[in-house]
Amino acid sequence: MDSSETYWTDRALLEWQVELGATDAILDAPVDRYALQSAKPAPQPTTPEKSAVPISSPQVDAAGFATTAAETATDLKALAAAMQAFEHCELKRGARHFVFSDGNPDARVMIIGEAPGREEDRAGRPFVGRAGQLLDRMLEAIGMGRAADDPAHSVYITNVLPWRPPSNRPPDASEIAMMLPFLERHIALADPEIIVLMGNTPCQALLGRTGITRIRGGWVEVLGKPCLPMFHPAYLLRNPIAKREAWADLLALKARLRS
Ligand code: URA
Repeated sequence: MDSSETYWTDRALLEWQVELGATDAILDAPVDRYALQSAKPAPQPTTPEKSAVPISSPQVDAAGFATTAAETATDLKALAAAMQAFEHCELKRGARHFVFSDGNPDARVMIIGEAPGREEDRAGRPFVGRAGQLLDRMLEAIGMGRAADDPAHSVYITNVLPWRPPSNRPPDASEIAMMLPFLERHIALADPEIIVLMGNTPCQALLGRTGITRIRGGWVEVLGKPCLPMFHPAYLLRNPIAKREAWADLLALKARLRS
């Protein structure tokens, strides 16, 4: 078991104990609570006490902290540093690597995916696993690639979240909301001409809606920029029949770049 798996196992066990009503950490030596109570009356909690251990606190305005941190970043390097220093996203503790971006920051096209998976978490780079390899082949089919120096033929790639969710589960709404200010700043600083949203998670983050089967292939606007929602390459691996629509969307992207 690696350290990130240990973290999530320990956390699940702790949450389970809290569910059962545990309010104190167990000590090495036993404590006679009756003796303590007779010495000093226990204070009455004003609200139902769930846990002595603050696992997460809904009172913290994580999105507010993220907004402030993102605003202070004046370039991509500073943004990456600000995100790495952000302590309000629990996923950070379970991840091996922070995954910021890949490709050419000057590219005309910025691709936004969901979150790192196992391979990306190991490598510290987005889209390097099977879905990423398919993405590279898709881009190559329209004469583009993340390694190209020329902004006209290269892409810049990032994700909604920079840390891997456990077991590759989809990011939840609070994780998306707290990291959104960083994503918006990322788009503003990279300043692409066109944005491509891969799958439901970036659509939820930036368009406020999901339903990729219906919204894919239709141009929309995000932060004043033309934006194309597409099927996620991982979806295409599971549903090869949908590659026909993905090809149509790639051609639409290519045509838009020519116009
Ligand atoms: N899926 C994503 O959305 N992003 C990655 O980086 C890898 C897989």
